[in-house]
Amino acid sequence: RWDGEAEIDYVFKVVVVGDSAVGKTQLLARFTRDEFALDSKSTIGVEFQTRTLTLHRKRVKAQIWDTAGQERYRAVTSAYYRGALGAMVVYDVTRRATFEHVARWVEELRAHADGSTVVALIGNKADMPPERREVAADEAARLAEEQGLFFSEASALTGDNVERAFLTLLEEVF
Ligand code: GTP
Repeated sequence: RWDGEAEIDYVFKVVVVGDSAVGKTQLLARFTRDEFALDSKSTIGVEFQTRTLTLHRKRVKAQIWDTAGQERYRAVTSAYYRGALGAMVVYDVTRRATFEHVARWVEELRAHADGSTVVALIGNKADMPPERREVAADEAARLAEEQGLFFSEASALTGDNVERAFLTLLEEVF
């Protein structure tokens, strides 16, 4: 091809959900651009970012959708979830309430997404000092197991586990 760009074999839509300010937008920024912003603004409506990578010798365009955690900014849910092959439910390890709402996000996913959508539970902000932590990793791992979800803690700030979490999800979708 004249532009030297490889053809895309597949487009995988992945949606990211979770309470406001858990770090959804920054996880996306880290995975798609290797960037992070401390002064991240609340998402209004829906946005998506893409990153193209090679999986099993195929060019895969990951199209990752980000929506507002705040109810008043949320767009139409069914359109958001439509066609999603993968999903990430994100909570903040330093805010217990965001973990307690995970079940509600999973329910919404199951109601609107395909039964075959691969779901990962992500405990973000793992970089925060231990005394700030309100959710233990093994407790979250147990919930994930009960619900049949992949689980990982991660940090959009340091980048820890972000690449791995997205790649695991995309691999599983593949
Ligand atoms: P909504 O758009 O309101 O749903 O929020 P969001 O989930 O997209 O959160 P966002 O990515 O905007 O991050 C919220 C705040 O948490 C920002 O101040 C980020 O800088 C901060 N933040 C995000 N990820 C991390 C992380 O891994 N570690 C730390 N320490 N802070 C983070």
